[in-house]
Amino acid sequence: MTGSTVIDGTMIAASVVENVKTAAAALETEHGVKTGLAVIIVGDDPASHTYVAAKSRVARECGFASVQHTLCADTTQDELAALVETLNSDPHIHGILVQLPLPKHLNSERIIQSISAEKDVDGLGVVNAGKLAIGDTKTGLVSCTPAGAMVLVRRIHGADLSGLRAVVIGRSNLFGKPMAQLLLGANATVTMAHSRTRNLADVCPEADILVAAVGRPEMVKGNWVKEGATVIDVGINRIEAAERGEGKTRLVGDVCFNEVAEVAAAITPVPGGVGPMTIAMLMANTVTASYRSVG
Ligand code: GUN
Repeated sequence: MTGSTVIDGTMIAASVVENVKTAAAALETEHGVKTGLAVIIVGDDPASHTYVAAKSRVARECGFASVQHTLCADTTQDELAALVETLNSDPHIHGILVQLPLPKHLNSERIIQSISAEKDVDGLGVVNAGKLAIGDTKTGLVSCTPAGAMVLVRRIHGADLSGLRAVVIGRSNLFGKPMAQLLLGANATVTMAHSRTRNLADVCPEADILVAAVGRPEMVKGNWVKEGATVIDVGINRIEAAERGEGKTRLVGDVCFNEVAEVAAAITPVPGGVGPMTIAMLMANTVTASYRSVG
């Protein structure tokens, strides 16, 4: 049925995690430094709890000291800010991640910007986002999901995307903007599309590399995709059993997999594509931050 290569994010993520494990062990042996990752989650959004549990588990697999702070939904801005401050000055913590979205009464932007740049393993603070924007990928930390998606793109196309056209659908700070900058940094010609783009179905077929991060289940159809394109699906949409008259809840991406797999040369599945890469790149960023702390 499928004419395209299905990019195995689970396997590629496992090899990144193996490298992180080795690096973390070497840091401990050579410098006596155990890499520490703190993950903060506020409230009881079930999907966020699932993601955070996976992040903490993989952090432990990497040999990190993994500290999870689970705060109740009515935590105040000041309480959360105080926790970030404590972690900023804790020498045993090298990476801090505040799981998003935060409950509505909290100012996420102020919290994200209060994480010290050296520990901002999500790469969302202005220092790290700014470094990426000026093409400095050596001293900053790049947001995990786009960094992971880029590893998958490189598996197919190599490091230099000269001459290739990329279309990124979605313009969030968490994904779309940094993804577009990474593609641009690799010499692709990049179009950013979003919910206000007119005739999305006409823009997408230009893409040699099509990246979808819109949060709309199976929005990208087969006839939106150029023959032979690489399609990276960043969406994770939960379709409740009742909506489909099916027996169980399932996860689908932003791409209509069965249709697009007929025309694309390579495609990421959901689950098992970009998702595992996000966690692997979080571990890679954390061990990088830890190495930098020893100079
Ligand atoms: N929520 C969904 N994805 C992410 C992510 O990459 N980082 C954080 N902090 N929250 C998220």
